[in-house]
Amino acid sequence: MAVTRCVCYRMTFAELRELARANDWTTVAQLSLATHCGMGCGGCRPYLQAMLDTGATCFAVRQGDQPPQPAAPEPWDL
Ligand code: FES
Repeated sequence: MAVTRCVCYRMTFAELRELARANDWTTVAQLSLATHCGMGCGGCRPYLQAMLDTGATCFAVRQGDQPPQPAAPEPWDL
């Protein structure tokens, strides 16, 4: 199982990456103010930062305080 979305606001990282690119958002704050993603439970914030940093939209579940690592999506992750 991989992390591919903001569960609270039901948006995939792929959707959010496209919005970020189209609007020149470079920070999680910009993205959150516009979409609310990251402003619910906050669990997706490290993944949003990693998405902005790397362009990846699928991540392994992170361990402890380690930064999210990109992962290949399984069919059920899409
Ligand atoms: S998963 Fe994104 S705010 Fe909860």
